[in-house]
Amino acid sequence: MLSGKKVLLGITGGIAAYKTTFLVRLLIKAGADVKVILTESASSFVSPLTLATLSKNPVLSSFVKEENGETDWNNHVALGLWADIMVVAPATANTLSKMANGTCDNLLLATYLSAKCPVFFAPAMDLDMYKHPSTKLSFEKLNSFGNIMIPVTSGELASGLHGEGRMAEPEDILKFVTAYLSEGLPLSGKTALITAGPTYEAIDPVRFIGNHSSGMMGYELAKSAANLGAVVILISGPSSLNINHENINLIRVVSADEMYEAAHKYYDEVDIAIAAAAVADYKPKTVADQKIKKASADLSLALVKNKDILFSLGEKKKNQFLVGFALETENEIENAIEKLKKKNLDAIVLNSLNDDGAGFGKATNKITFIDKNSSIKTFELKTKAAVAVDILSEIINRIDA
Ligand code: CTP
Repeated sequence: MLSGKKVLLGITGGIAAYKTTFLVRLLIKAGADVKVILTESASSFVSPLTLATLSKNPVLSSFVKEENGETDWNNHVALGLWADIMVVAPATANTLSKMANGTCDNLLLATYLSAKCPVFFAPAMDLDMYKHPSTKLSFEKLNSFGNIMIPVTSGELASGLHGEGRMAEPEDILKFVTAYLSEGLPLSGKTALITAGPTYEAIDPVRFIGNHSSGMMGYELAKSAANLGAVVILISGPSSLNINHENINLIRVVSADEMYEAAHKYYDEVDIAIAAAAVADYKPKTVADQKIKKASADLSLALVKNKDILFSLGEKKKNQFLVGFALETENEIENAIEKLKKKNLDAIVLNSLNDDGAGFGKATNKITFIDKNSSIKTFELKTKAAVAVDILSEIINRIDA
């Protein structure tokens, strides 16, 4: 896959930089044409001469170069356009933050901003730096730009501490990039519809019936699906969350009726539909035109059932892979399977209220994935981002089967 491919390797200043000598060797052995850009601090960890010898190309470090007594410049625009792929490894927290924010104070960053090719980055840092919210924000931003993260590994770190943050081994970086080039992303060419968040059902012009759903699970599903190559239609009820990804079309709605309309508008053209929204089961029978005054000692509101969006999608289903959520407190598996059948789903994600750390407003979730053949898989408590990846892997395994 790499034969004849032009690979731009950006090396930044972390101890894992020494491993890039092996990465360059592997890339060259695979037939790639490799150019290396080294940041100033990276040259303290790995020698330009070693990299130039292995890559068979001069190593580039600054905008200006001196050659045969002449002053010239390393053209970052030309370099960015030259590359078929760019790999930043190791990618330090500092460089990732700069990439995420458009900072452009060295040749590597200027080339990154000029590159039109897929950009991979292999983070390397100590465990607390890796876990820091600002680092996570950099990852999120870079993912939303379409850059591809090569996951870190866990183990002993240069600090002597143990944990997540080690750069992937050169062999694994090569495997990751090769798999990407040979297969594309697993959801490339697919469209996914995802509902998320609560719905608000108006009582009068200023009041509504709603619930505490934050929308986080649906938004994480949308992000993961987009990062896996899908075009995503995210239909969200009122949520404070936002999303900025070129493959995600965010449609904001307020009520269950609006969510129903939006879901049906797009449903026919999608390959996957996931109903992660916490749709209000009932709405007021009538909506008062004017604000209701507190005239009497008590007040009764007549409610009517909302349309079950997921049920209606199940009725209309053709080739879509349809996934629902269930929140159960007793006979969890049996009730979830019953729901799956009743709504004609291909799979259902069971959230249990009996699990600490799972549910509304929490950043974590614990799920059981059940498919229509009653295959049941229970996962550990994880962040909602990691849960989204698990759900999508289960879906991908089934749509390819
Ligand atoms: N759902 C929907 N439209 C509704 C109600 C629910 O699309 N009007 C979807 C939700 O997005 C979720 C699933 O259906 O995927 C939940 O099913 P539901 O029957 O509401 O189950 P629970 O919320 O678990 O509640 P209950 O058991 O009380 O019915």
